[in-house]
Amino acid sequence: MGKVIAIANQKGGVGKTTTAINLAASLAVLEKKVLIIDADPQANTTSGLNFSPEDDRGRTLYEILIGKIQAEDALIQTELQNLHMIPSHINLVGAEIEMLEWENRESVLRRALAPIRDNYDFIIIDCSPSLGLITVNCLTAADSVIIPVQPEFFALEGLAKLIQTIRLVQNGINPELTIEGFVVTMFDGRTKVHSQVVMQLREHFKDLVFNTIIQRSIRLSEAPSHGKPIILYDVMNNGTSNYLNLAKEVLDKNSQNNG
Ligand SMILES: Nc1ncnc2c1ncn2[C@@H]1O[C@H](COP(=O)(O)OP(=O)(O)O)[C@@H](O)[C@H]1O
Ligand SMILES: [Mg+2]
Repeated sequence: MGKVIAIANQKGGVGKTTTAINLAASLAVLEKKVLIIDADPQANTTSGLNFSPEDDRGRTLYEILIGKIQAEDALIQTELQNLHMIPSHINLVGAEIEMLEWENRESVLRRALAPIRDNYDFIIIDCSPSLGLITVNCLTAADSVIIPVQPEFFALEGLAKLIQTIRLVQNGINPELTIEGFVVTMFDGRTKVHSQVVMQLREHFKDLVFNTIIQRSIRLSEAPSHGKPIILYDVMNNGTSNYLNLAKEVLDKNSQNNG
């Protein structure tokens, strides 16, 4: 069965979308069948993979969550053969309100994904910078969470609230949920505080911190405006090798777990 990984951190601008797009693309290039789901109303993953959220086909995550269409009706083929996408749209904001009174409202996405889960090796969900009902749906649908961490002074403080939310989901509706790992993003070796934060993170979370560190790279931030993952935009860039290494670590971890 496909492994569902949510990319989450309620802080904005820490590299969730960049990690979702480039981890998904790297896994696809490593010959895994991958689905990326944009679960942020800002739809940055959607536009970053060259789909205009304004082309409102009425087939986005919003319509899936409110039960208007099936997950398979929203699938888009991206430029990479092994990578499909379910896009987002600004109207996803409304789903949170519409679902509020529903029974079992935390597991809507989990149920919606069940029919297509087996078609993929990995399903990567790009979460929004909130811990609201949509993100809880993502954590309920997920097998594990990857937490991007920008190495700045207050990074660790911000993690407590996220970990508390993960625990709540684990203690309630999704006891199987695990933390896949913390990944340091936008790292600059010349900045002293960056190395200090990495050390603190490793002291605190030990093996849960990925060995791979994503370096700061202008090319990584340019790629989305060309509608491409870094591997199709600048294959020689550090960002390409960093995210391929992250994908290999994810594959290693998961092959061990499967015996
Ligand atoms: N490794 C990196 N090097 C340089 N810029 C990056 C890197 N990772 C992300 N960015 C840029 O930082 C900003 C925030 O990243 P993003 O992935 O959108 O974060 P989030 O989804 O958590 O809000 C974006 O402009 C993105 O292009
Ligand atoms: Mg984002």
